[in-house]
Amino acid sequence: MTQFFLCSKQDIPDQQAREFKVETDQGQLDLFLVRQDDQVHAYKNQCPHLEIPLNWQPDQFMSVDGINIQCSTHGALFTIDKGNCIIGPCAGENLRVLTLEQRDDDEVWLQL
Ligand code: FES
Repeated sequence: MTQFFLCSKQDIPDQQAREFKVETDQGQLDLFLVRQDDQVHAYKNQCPHLEIPLNWQPDQFMSVDGINIQCSTHGALFTIDKGNCIIGPCAGENLRVLTLEQRDDDEVWLQL
């Protein structure tokens, strides 16, 4: 297993997201973290509709109300906690969940 340090949990405001690019043995992995209350979730930055990045602007992954992750191309909405598409052309599909380890000092590490 390979681990990559991403950031401190405090670097991500509640109900907001931040993107990262990680160099792996298989090439660059584009991902983002989204925080909800005390939980941080990680997803591959790829919409299941057209398999393109979700965002147009850096770190902009959230709906205007901050309740859901939103694809900027066709507006699909995803739940923050599971990455499940609830409205849009890929309804019922999921963002690819990535595994995190949160250490005691609030460091967020990606596990591959
Ligand atoms: S590419 Fe994301 S909803 Fe169409």
